[in-house]
This record gives sequence, structure tokens and C-alpha cells, in this order.
Amino acid sequence: MVIGWTLIEAFRVTICLLRFNFEAKEQIMKRPIVAANWKMNVLPSEACHLAEQIRQSTAGLGVEIVVAPPYTHLALLSHLRTPQFSLGAQNVHNASSGAYTSGISVAMLKDLQVEYVIVGHSERREAFPSEKDLISDKILAILQGGLKVIYCCGESRSVRESGNELDFVESQLGYDFRDVQRWDPGKIVIAYEPIWAIGTGLTASPEQAGAMHLGIRQWLRSRYGIENAEGTRIIYGGSVKGSNASDLAAIDGIDGALVGGASLSANEFSQIARAFRYPS
Ligand code: PGA
Repeated sequence: MVIGWTLIEAFRVTICLLRFNFEAKEQIMKRPIVAANWKMNVLPSEACHLAEQIRQSTAGLGVEIVVAPPYTHLALLSHLRTPQFSLGAQNVHNASSGAYTSGISVAMLKDLQVEYVIVGHSERREAFPSEKDLISDKILAILQGGLKVIYCCGESRSVRESGNELDFVESQLGYDFRDVQRWDPGKIVIAYEPIWAIGTGLTASPEQAGAMHLGIRQWLRSRYGIENAEGTRIIYGGSVKGSNASDLAAIDGIDGALVGGASLSANEFSQIARAFRYPS
């Protein structure tokens, strides 16, 4: 009787553990995301052709593709959206509406079927020193407005040379997410983009990128808990090309890429997306 009961209990515990393990794996299996940041490139008249080439050449890879063109192109591309191909904006205003000449609001982007907004890109941080104090408000505006964030962080060459890159990135994260109380891993993508690698042809080595991604995930874990940390996609940006994408994709904890220069060629971009496909 006692033995029978013990066996039933052991069976029950085993089933629970298997279920827990399965659910944990489900959590951890995230769809990779590869985003194209066109920056201030491509004419409106050329945008549809390039976006359509990107869409076609990346279809069926199991990778979420985001194209972030200049604002002027968004309306022209909204008909291309599919469950795996969406549009991103390169910036947004933190206010919802009003007398902000040149401003573009979250609601305007949403109205154009935009899904993601890039915030905290180093090119904006550098060109507009006040940007760093707006990022937190922009993140809140994007999330409250029902869009998703691609948040960029990363250190300069001098910080990297001083060996303080992890402290630097953690303090960026702490400052920019200071008002985010509840983390939704489905709504926030973190892009680690070392400034010294952006547009320079230099790429972080697999060890450098892997260590930083681990550090960012540990920061997430300590602040928002293990499930949110494991469920968040942390992607790498900085001179990602077809030729180096596989090495980056092979690193545990790199869930995709934010691609600048190489996203202006559908062929190059699709090679990158292919490197991140699951299973590769
Ligand atoms: P890059 O740009 O790929 O041209 O280095 C990346 C980025 O700035 O997002």
C-alpha cells in the first residue's frame, strides 16, 4: 500500500518536473528578430522595391523581420506587413500631440500600422545631447501607446578600452528603464550596439558580444526576474554583415541583429536573417 502510494507520488512529481522543464523551454525558445535600420538612406520611390525584396528573400525563415525606413516611407510600406514582416520607426516624440514642429507621435505611427520604434540609438544620443533624458519618456509613450520598443545601448571605444563597458551599459539600462515597473518581454527588444562597431566595419568578437549579452540578461534578471530575462530578445548591432552573421548567431544569448549598412542590400540582409533562422 505504502509502496504503491510512493510510486504514484513519484510519478506525479516526475510529470510535474517534465511539464516545468517543457514550459521553461517554451519560454526560452524565442523567435529571432532581425531589424533593418535604413537610417537616412533610400528614396521613397525606391523603398517599396527594396522592402519587397527583403520580405521575399526572408520569407519562411522563422525569423521576425522589421524594416525601419525614414518616416517619409512608412505609409508607402504599410501594405507589405505580414505576421513575420513588420515596420519600425527610427524615432518618436515623447508627447502624445501638440505644438511640436516636426514631431511624430506614437499614435501617428500606430495609425500607419507601425509595430516597433527604435529608441536610444547612439547616433541620436550623440547628435542630440538632450536625447538621453527623453528616452525614458519615449519608452513609456511607446508602450502605453501599444507599440513595441527596440532599445539601443552600448559603449564608446574609450569606455571599452577602460574595461568599464558592462558598468556603463548597466547604468544606461538603469537610467532609461527607471520608470518601467512591469517588464513585458514581448514588447521590448534590447539591441546591444557598441558605438565603436557601428558603421566602422569593426564587429565585437563573439566573446565580447556574448559577455555583454550575458551581462544585460543578468541585469534584467536582477531587476525584472528570471522569466522576463529569459524571454527578452537581446540582439546585436554594429557592422553585422552576411559574412559575420553566422559567428554572431552561434553565440548563446544573441537573439537577432539590428542591421544598418547591410540592410540596404536585400541579398546581404537575407544572408544575415538566414544565419539567425531557427533551427539554423
Ligand atoms: P551598421 O549600423 O550595421 O551600419 O553598423 C547598425 C546600427 O546603427 O543600428
